[in-house]
Amino acid sequence: MELPIKKAIKEETKKEVKFKVENNDHLKTKMMSEKGYATDCNNALKKNSSNKSVPLCNLNNLQLRFLCPSDLLEVRALCRNWFPIDYPYTWYEEITSNPRFYSLAAIYEGVIIGLIVAEIKPYSKLNKGDKNILSSCFSKTSSVAYMLSLGVSEDHRRNGIATLLLDNLVSHLTAPENRDCKALFLHVLTTNKPAIRFYEHRNFRLHNFLPYYYSIKGTRRDGFTYVLYLNGGHPPWGL
Ligand SMILES: CC(C)(COP(=O)(O)OP(=O)(O)OC[C@H]1O[C@@H](n2cnc3c(N)ncnc32)[C@H](O)[C@@H]1OP(=O)(O)O)[C@@H](O)C(=O)NCCC(=O)NCCS
Repeated sequence: MELPIKKAIKEETKKEVKFKVENNDHLKTKMMSEKGYATDCNNALKKNSSNKSVPLCNLNNLQLRFLCPSDLLEVRALCRNWFPIDYPYTWYEEITSNPRFYSLAAIYEGVIIGLIVAEIKPYSKLNKGDKNILSSCFSKTSSVAYMLSLGVSEDHRRNGIATLLLDNLVSHLTAPENRDCKALFLHVLTTNKPAIRFYEHRNFRLHNFLPYYYSIKGTRRDGFTYVLYLNGGHPPWGL
């Protein structure tokens, strides 16, 4: 049976979708899209609420919605707090207003407490260093998604918020209209143990070591590329 929220995506008319997770009274989530469509959070919630080891979030009134231009300053303050990297102002303008980005925020009591930002790119447009993510058997028309950002406010960590945001993104990337998207990849500092643990526990695999990839306050720092294969995507044989 079609989930009510999927119906809402198809109709693309409802501005707001409310649902309550069955068998879990304390877990109520409201999804709202300011771009006129809703994302499939229902699957993510059901999947996680049945997994005892990941209790998911137990916050009442948690809302998921897409970022909009008026979020810019709030998002910038959060990112400055979460990440050691200084992004230019234009980066914040882009992720809060350009529809090419899938920029989803978790809102609690009217405040952004988590966000995930990703974009789908043609595989042919990737930088040289990322080009060997996919096996050469995939056509030149394949695409991949790049995760630019994932963060949760310190007070709300280890409540399943990042899992919820990631599951939502993966649901979007595995929807029929995105079947050409064969992988989701990201870069992470080699020293960021909580994030690496998070990705490894969610089936991302280490793809590449990137010496001196980051420039942080004038110092070069190493990075890793992590990849989650989707829609039948796989790495070159032997990797
Ligand atoms: C990495 C990060 C996004 C994870 O966010 P989070 O919301 O804490 O993630 P989750 O709660 O979904 O999962 C984290 C862990 O908490 C556990 N957890 C979830 N709910 C829990 C609960 N109620 N009690 C105890 N543990 C819980 C999960 O099982 C998970 O453990 P695992 O990774 O070993 O499987 C967060 O630490 C962060 O924002 N870090 C700073 C920014 C950053 O480095 N981002 C990544 C850049 S590449």
